Amino acid sequence: VSEVQNPQIRLACRPSGEPDESTWHYVEVPAAAPGPDQVLVRNLYLSIDPAMRSWLNPVKTYVPPVGIDEVMRALGLGVVETSNSPKFAKGDLVSGVLGVQAYATVGAKHLESIGEPRLPLQTYLGALGMTGMTAYFGLLEVGQPKPGQTVLVSAAAGAVGSLVGQIAKIRGCRVVGIAGGADKCAYLVDTLGFDAAVDYKAEGWTKALKDACPDRVDVFFDNVGGEVLEAALLLGARGARYVICGMISQYNSARIAGPSNYATLILNRSRMEGFVVFDYHARYPEAVGQLTQWIQEGRIQNRDHVVAGQVRDFPAVLKKLFSGENHGKLSLQIGSV
Ligand SMILES: NC(=O)c1ccc[n+]([C@@H]2O[C@H](COP(=O)([O-])OP(=O)(O)OC[C@H]3O[C@@H](n4cnc5c(N)ncnc54)[C@H](OP(=O)(O)O)[C@@H]3O)[C@@H](O)[C@H]2O)c1
Repeated sequence: VSEVQNPQIRLACRPSGEPDESTWHYVEVPAAAPGPDQVLVRNLYLSIDPAMRSWLNPVKTYVPPVGIDEVMRALGLGVVETSNSPKFAKGDLVSGVLGVQAYATVGAKHLESIGEPRLPLQTYLGALGMTGMTAYFGLLEVGQPKPGQTVLVSAAAGAVGSLVGQIAKIRGCRVVGIAGGADKCAYLVDTLGFDAAVDYKAEGWTKALKDACPDRVDVFFDNVGGEVLEAALLLGARGARYVICGMISQYNSARIAGPSNYATLILNRSRMEGFVVFDYHARYPEAVGQLTQWIQEGRIQNRDHVVAGQVRDFPAVLKKLFSGENHGKLSLQIGSV
């Protein structure tokens, strides 16, 4: 135990529906001193991810649920304060599962070194972090887009979606995005170079979607599920690939809805496939290299939505993902180098 105070957000109780004030519990405890082969990290950026909602349910997914009274799980990026491992020295920048807290005491083997950053630090949680890896491998490996094909992506103005669309453009595809609101749709077409964008909150959006996909859809990269997936299932081309990345419209529901339109998978000889980004871990360096190059060449525009604040702001920042208030990769900055 050290002298340093460590503010934390812990899980107070499992939410039904959207998390609210009763879900969380704010505490300040002394930071745990690092043991052998452990490192004390001062957290700088906490990654705010839709998956956080699924970690609150009492079911094991690809990770166990967060336990009651445990520190809320979060990926993050920080700076080494004290190291008991030869792998890291004071001042090194690292990423890993750091938790919603100001300091993390972590085994060195669970941390990745950022090295000398070539892009703004927060980008290592976004385009060069889990977000970028998800877009890159989900689209290219699971979706297998070919030049000239139509790629449709949902939550298209979000962190993963905006990268998926831009990578598909680089691969010579026609790209259509689905997003909430006129501003996000204009951003997709005017700034990111999408061929069309459809506002799923507008009247008559399913007709607009059909009109935006005159050659139907070869790859649907879905982040949303629910009604959006239902609509996309009606638009598949022969041999369409449905990449199930996420279903954010369903994360706060007790029961995941639908889809009922999946008979089209038979008619169109289509494939629907989910994936977990961590399965591509061994190939992350390839994606990081390629994405860094595309960003530096200006072929990919990367948008990070950084909220400056404190650990206690986490519950409010998490809500932004479900209200669609985030523009790009959302993170909470709680410190600087
Ligand atoms: N499979 C994997 O390994 C993996 C890894 C990482 C992420 N994911 C998934 O990827 C998806 C995107 O994650 P992200 O980090 O990039 O988040 P994000 O897209 O930056 O943010 C979430 C966006 O979802 C949209 N949204 C929220 N509620 C919605 C609803 N009810 N209906 C339709 N759209 C809604 C909002 O955009 P609008 O304003 O457009 O509504 C919001 O901005 C999530 O489903 C996540 O779980 C999967």
